[in-house]
Amino acid sequence: MSEIIKPEDKGGETISLLDLDGDYFPPDLQPDVIRDLMKFNFRPDDVIICSYPKTGCHWIWEITRMLLSDCTELDPTEKELCMMEWQSQDTLDPLPSPRVLNTHVLTRQMNPKLLNVRSKIVFMLRNAKDTAVSFYHHHLKLPEYEYKGSWADYLDLFLTGKVDYGSVFDYMRDWERFIEHHPDFPLIVMTYEDLKEDPVREIDRLSQFLNKRQDRDFLQKVADACSFKRMRDRKGHNWLTNGGETIFYRKGEVGDWKNWFTVAQNEHFDKVAQVKMASSCFRLKETIDL
Ligand code: A3P
Repeated sequence: MSEIIKPEDKGGETISLLDLDGDYFPPDLQPDVIRDLMKFNFRPDDVIICSYPKTGCHWIWEITRMLLSDCTELDPTEKELCMMEWQSQDTLDPLPSPRVLNTHVLTRQMNPKLLNVRSKIVFMLRNAKDTAVSFYHHHLKLPEYEYKGSWADYLDLFLTGKVDYGSVFDYMRDWERFIEHHPDFPLIVMTYEDLKEDPVREIDRLSQFLNKRQDRDFLQKVADACSFKRMRDRKGHNWLTNGGETIFYRKGEVGDWKNWFTVAQNEHFDKVAQVKMASSCFRLKETIDL
């Protein structure tokens, strides 16, 4: 069953979401396209960026695209053109290999044949507090959510998973389980924070995972071409608010959450995260500052 639902935040403002059999998605997605993910035609040379929203998906998509194509020209197109739950398979099937696909869905929402096809997965993580702040602005700016709430009222929507793609913690646990159960699956975990700290080191790690092994000079060019400023200047106009503000290239920093969270909100967030991530056993923990 699919319907548009409008959960309320603490102040009574609503956010529009697509509820598809109990899972939440952006309200403008097509239920049939999402359902078709269960029979998605993966290819062995596909690379799939898997990430919760607002964790730097545009950034890592562009980097991956450059590494695979050996070209550092910043393409004005956006990763949405290769987004599995947004584009129909009729659109994605004709794309030439190697495709750099991307998705925010849970592992159970993907075609299980992926396990046999063994396309490569780049799993991107970001500190969940920065993700929350970034998602708040995303929901405010994109008109389809029809959301006008304050940050204070929004936070509980995020923490209780009443946002598209559900709870960030459930998402991380889902993928953590996948990684634990399929230790030999070709998957690399990248984090927004590591990429910020040392882009060349991290891009080198990704290049090796993709069997490219490019030299330092090329890796530096990729890092420069994909800097926040260069990407915002080149691609920021693709998605603008009615007021002309860029939507996907907001601040691009680590730790912006400190400008938004009150002490009480921070304590509350940590408590929820501690329960939800209690037995999480690997470095996903680090990304939520527990
Ligand atoms: P902020 O809202 O904190 O600025 P996604 O691509 O998954 O939607 O994530 C969006 C977040 O990544 C936004 O975070 C955006 O500014 C940031 N971002 C986009 N391109 C970036 C880049 N080249 N370098 C660093 N951060 C980037």
